[in-house]
Order: sequence, then C-alpha cells, then structure tokens
Amino acid sequence: MTTQSLRGDAVGIEQVTKIYGEGANAVAALKGVSLTIGDNEFFTLLGPSGCGKTTLLRILAGFEQVSAGKVFLFGEEIEQLPPNRRPINTVFQHYALFPHMTVEENIAFGLKRLGREPAEIRARVGEVMEIVRLGGFAHRRPGQLSGGQQQRVALARALAPQPKILLLDEPLSALDLKLRQQMRVELKQIQENTGITFIFVTHDQEEALAMSDRIAVMSQGEVQQLGTAQEIYERPNNRFVADFIGDANILAVTVLGDDDGSGYRRCRTAQGMEILCAGSGAPGSTPHVSIRPERIAIGAVGSMADGIACDVERVVYLGTNRQFLVCLADGLKLTVLVPNALRAGSELQPGDKAVIHVPPGTAQLLKD
Ligand SMILES: Nc1ncnc2c1ncn2[C@@H]1O[C@H](COP(=O)(O)OP(=O)(O)O)[C@@H](O)[C@H]1O
Ligand SMILES: [Mg+2]
Repeated sequence: MTTQSLRGDAVGIEQVTKIYGEGANAVAALKGVSLTIGDNEFFTLLGPSGCGKTTLLRILAGFEQVSAGKVFLFGEEIEQLPPNRRPINTVFQHYALFPHMTVEENIAFGLKRLGREPAEIRARVGEVMEIVRLGGFAHRRPGQLSGGQQQRVALARALAPQPKILLLDEPLSALDLKLRQQMRVELKQIQENTGITFIFVTHDQEEALAMSDRIAVMSQGEVQQLGTAQEIYERPNNRFVADFIGDANILAVTVLGDDDGSGYRRCRTAQGMEILCAGSGAPGSTPHVSIRPERIAIGAVGSMADGIACDVERVVYLGTNRQFLVCLADGLKLTVLVPNALRAGSELQPGDKAVIHVPPGTAQLLKD
C-alpha cells in the first residue's frame, strides 16, 4: 500500500502495532492492524473490552504514537501532525462537560479557543444545537439535563468546529437501553446529514449492526473480520466472530468433499450427522461450523418431510421469539430460535419428541 493508493479514503491504517511499556511489562495493544475507512463512512470498531479499540482511536487523534506502522488521513501520512492540527474531534463515554457553563457556552468553548469570531461562533452554536435537537436548552447547565441530553451537548461540542472525522468512543454506554436505541437512530441520521466520517467504538454488537456501513471486529489487538453488518453476521470467517456477533451453534465437523451441484461442502458432525455447509474446507480437514439458531426449522413430529428427529430439552419464551434446546438422536445439542408470530413449535414442551431441519448452506465453515 502506498500513500497514493490511499487517496479518497478518510483514514488509512497500515500495519499499525502499539506496544505499551517495556520488557516484561510490555502489552501489545495493537498487532499489525491494517484497514481503510472511506470518506463519509459510518465505520465501527467492535470488540470486547481490552481488544485495542480506544488505543486505535487515540492514535488517530494523535494522543498516542504508533510503535510501528503508518497512519494516513486523506492520503497524507500524519505521524508528525499534532492533535490540534488534525481535522478530527472526539466524543467520549464520559462527556466531560463543564458543569459551571451553560449548554451554549460548553458548545462554544472549542470555537473560542480556535479564535473564531463571536458572530460566527453564535451562528455555528445555533446550527449544531439544531442538528442534535437541543434548541431551547441553550441556557441550561449540564446538571439540569438528562444523560441523553448531556450526551447531545458533547456531540454538538465535537461537531461545532466542523471536523472531517468524528471519533466516538463508546458514547452511548452510559445511557439506558431505550435511550441508547433512540440515540442509535439519531447518530446515524446526524452522520448522514453532516457527511462527516464517523469512527464509532463499541463492545455492543447490536449497536454496531444497527448503525454501521462497515464493521471491523477486533480481538486481542487484531482485526478478525471487516465487512458490512450482513457479511459479518451471515458469513463470519472464524469462531471468534461467529460467537461474538449474535448467537451461534458452533460444531466440529469433518469435511467429506464438495457436494455435486449445490456448490456446498458435504460435512459430517462428530456425532455422525451430514450437513451441507457454505464456505471452503479441504476434504479430510476438521474445521468448525457456525449455524445461526434462527435458521433452523422446528416442528412437531410429522410436520416436515425431511426432518431430523430430536428431543425437546428446554423451551424459553423470549417475547418476540421462543428458544428451544434440542438433542438429536446422536447426542448433538442445538439451540433453535423461532419468532412467536410464526407459531411454529408453539405447542412443543420440554420432554416432547420433535423434528428439526437445517437447510443446505445454513451452516458456515469457519477458518479456526
Ligand atoms: N496507557 C496504557 N499503558 C499500558 N497499557 C495500556 C494502556 N492503555 C491501554 N493499555 C492496554 O492495552 C490493551 C488495549 O486497551 P484499549 O485500547 O483501552 O482497549 P479497549 O478500548 O478495546 O477496551 C489493554 O490490554 C489495556 O490494558
Ligand atoms: Mg476503550
């Protein structure tokens, strides 16, 4: 990758490694991460606590130096560029508003420091308050606002200087579920309306799926998979991604060979059941496969032609869905999820005999 090839992208990260500390205390927070983020993209870094998300944001913002590798902004290498010269702003989880200042003063603070004219500041503050729907709150202090409103002030403050890139480090995690869901929609709309590149960090997979153009799934300082929400959910490329994103039945199989005609791989589970799997795997190899619980059909005995017999061990009513734990004759246990609206299997109770069906290609072969 060269500087040239990265033009048009907002961010280019090339083989970035970050090691904190030295010797026996050294921690590798990032291990050779490479990715590019498009201009106007809503890009999400998703992964469990400690996987290196904040470190990557801090490197982009200029608060940390890389140990190795390169970072490009709009095609230019930026190692020497101090934080205040980068067209980047950050929204943190703990919004750190000034408690003694009004909403208006909080938002204007950064613009004043940049030496903008008072008239321009007034206009811009009004503009961003409209964008985050805080009109009417100009003279309140943070203590007189709800958590969601305070987060909006933090967002407005970060948007005010018109950054090209906005970094958002778990900005919704302090809010309760309903508010978080509402803010997801709003954040996405603000990103679309302003055209600013958003780099959003979360450990919440649902949040990532709901908002992102693309997601980089991270674990232990490495990008495990990069793709759209649908790609990483439906075609996870390894066990970590399959497990971390949504629920998955993960089984060990032996690849028997290609299935003539269907384009799938014929595989056998450890218990002896044959399934047709999507993805690649050499004959004789023993990878794992992931099967999403909602892709498995379930019904009473005799309800489907090619059903596999099983015992219902557990039924959990989840409101929208009903979750079954079933055990096949060969001992294999699977989780099955059915929307209650479909009524399928609604009569099944623990201890009942039932049948399931795993459609061809529903199982995805994983790399490790
Ligand atoms: N300043 C630091 N000094 C030493 N280790 C750090 C420092 N910051 C982060 N780390 C370590 O680097 C790893 C990645 O941390 P971080 O980027 O904060 O992860 P995340 O944001 O995904 O939770 C963790 O193991 C963390 O303990
Ligand atoms: Mg973090």
